[in-house]
Amino acid sequence: MSDPRVAILMGSQNDWAVMRLAEEALEQLGIGSDARVISAHRTPERLTSYLADVEARGIEVIICGAGAAAHLAGVTAAHTELPVLGVPIDSSALQGLDALLATVQMPGGIPVATFAIGKAGAKNAALFAAAILARKDPEVAKKLHEFREAQSAAVPERPL
Ligand code: RP5
Repeated sequence: MSDPRVAILMGSQNDWAVMRLAEEALEQLGIGSDARVISAHRTPERLTSYLADVEARGIEVIICGAGAAAHLAGVTAAHTELPVLGVPIDSSALQGLDALLATVQMPGGIPVATFAIGKAGAKNAALFAAAILARKDPEVAKKLHEFREAQSAAVPERPL
């Protein structure tokens, strides 16, 4: 796989079952990613040190998955001007509604683009990251177009 251009951060090892969908979607499009377990509250130094040189290491988009009082995406966005895409994880008693509200309700000034709760959100965040890269990368644009065509072709006209 090519050098990582998308970071996939998650607040817990337990989030990987969802966030691996982002890695898989990027892989299908030939986009390298760098997946890390980094908690904004349990490993705050790990987060700041990872973000200190993230752009210099070639990362162009950061996807953050977190559950419960999810603040990973917001804190990440506070430390970088790269686009930050947030995926609320359904890991809590509130089944991700808490994480959705925590991620989407960023006060004005520090944006986090927020996706659906759980696996659909992880997959769509990856596709959105690809769409960002595709603006300047014809190879990614071609792969994304082919993915969309294949997805349409796979929908039967009548129920099977
Ligand atoms: C968040 O708290 C993580 O993103 C995870 O979704 C949730 C629960 O974490 P664990 O207690 O399962 O590690 O920080």
